[in-house]
Amino acid sequence: MSKDYEKYFIKPSIRDARKRKSQATPVIDFNKHFNIKGFGKGKTYKIETYGCQANEADTEKIKGILEVLEFTESDTLENADIILLNTCAVRENAENRVFGELGRLKQYKKNNPDLILGVCGCMPQEEKVVERILKSFHYVDLVFGTHNIYKLPEYLETVVLSKERVIEVFSEEGSIVENLPRIRENTRKAWVNIMYGCDEFCTYCIVPYTRGKERSRNKDDIINEVNDLIDQGYKEITLLGQNVNSYGRDFLDVNYKFSDLLIDLHKLPIARIRFTTSHPKDFDLETVKILSQGGNLMPYIHLPVQSGSNEVLKKMNRKYTKESYKKLVDNIYKFIPNVSLTTDIIVGFPGETEEQFEETLDLVKYCKFEGAYTFVYSKRAGTPAENYPDYTTFEEKKRRLYKLNDLINIGYLRGSKRFEGKIVKVLVDGLSKKNNEILAGYTENNKLVNFKGDESLIGGIVEVKITSAKTWSLTGEQIE
Ligand code: 5AD
Ligand code: SF4
Repeated sequence: MSKDYEKYFIKPSIRDARKRKSQATPVIDFNKHFNIKGFGKGKTYKIETYGCQANEADTEKIKGILEVLEFTESDTLENADIILLNTCAVRENAENRVFGELGRLKQYKKNNPDLILGVCGCMPQEEKVVERILKSFHYVDLVFGTHNIYKLPEYLETVVLSKERVIEVFSEEGSIVENLPRIRENTRKAWVNIMYGCDEFCTYCIVPYTRGKERSRNKDDIINEVNDLIDQGYKEITLLGQNVNSYGRDFLDVNYKFSDLLIDLHKLPIARIRFTTSHPKDFDLETVKILSQGGNLMPYIHLPVQSGSNEVLKKMNRKYTKESYKKLVDNIYKFIPNVSLTTDIIVGFPGETEEQFEETLDLVKYCKFEGAYTFVYSKRAGTPAENYPDYTTFEEKKRRLYKLNDLINIGYLRGSKRFEGKIVKVLVDGLSKKNNEILAGYTENNKLVNFKGDESLIGGIVEVKITSAKTWSLTGEQIE
């Protein structure tokens, strides 16, 4: 398509995305934006999702919108009338995968010129990405970001009816959209967004630019959503936010924090409550004490530490020290002795020395993590760390990653072994991927369990005695 046919040509700007206003967050009601029902009748879509749970939750909303328009999901890419890539920008290799996929999808566009190919999610929030799509991927019809999903019906109408290419990416968010329709992936476990965006500006991280200002959802909207999920038979919810511990910090007129939300949700008849992700600097003792009440509050905390060196933490702008992190971990183990703790760690942050890396290993040993997502630092354009001097070779960074992973795997195994001989509660997800006579599900501590059982148990919570433990999974027998 030529440039003359491009509409809504709004490109993102990392600089604008940095501007934060301390104003009240307006709430947009999706129902008021929506009036083209039936538009997708007889047509199909396929969405490929990259990245974190926030993207998975957004995909459920995009599917919801498409299905209200009466599109149906296609089994294959080949047959789809719309293909959307919901992308992740957190590391370079995630972005490269998307560009690779876009290259591969060119053939589908050749075979079916009416195919609508779109890119959404975090990558379009970066100006360099949009420039690259404009320059090298002329066959992409639709580009939108994380703040304007609710306008998808309008964009599709323009692409289909006017045959115009739509590129619209808002740099400055300001709103929360309620009442978006949703097709949830799972019928027993649900994501519940409690807040959007991030105001932390860790120096390595692109998320505050791609997801915008921190905005907490109104507590009544969250509680109503959870009550709806309970009515639909959901057993587990995971509260989502980039820093759930700062929930409510942006409320101008009410004092209601994450711990208050947990107290309110704890009273509801939902079997399991989880949350992710936590920020150590905002994880208060009040929250630890509330979690110690157990019940539907699961004994599992993901608490990204990123590094065990105070110098590195400072350069990362994490706003805590290894001492304060250890103190928080001590309190977590003191009040919730049965807890499973996992973390995120970045190795090879610019300027990280061997000694500083060793400090991370020491911290890992101290904290007894039962799992971790570990990453080699990836330079992100527009972030402060982009310009930090970095003399460590990639080979050396990989060596550090492997050494760290060896230690983390010891923690995984220890975390599994401690359940041998114990009776655990398993929320049964479905049949095991490897053997269709075996059921698979997760314990309260988020451990994968395989056991022999009837398919009718899927979706329920079953007591299982653990007979053996491996690094990544437990095996057990159902208690009759
Ligand atoms: N390089 C490597 N890892 C990163 N993360 C975030 N930004 C980067 C980056 N630039 C990791 C952090 C975060 C997780 C979601 O991704 O560990 O907690
Ligand atoms: Fe990124 Fe830090 Fe925000 Fe997490 S808290 S999303 S690492 S800026």
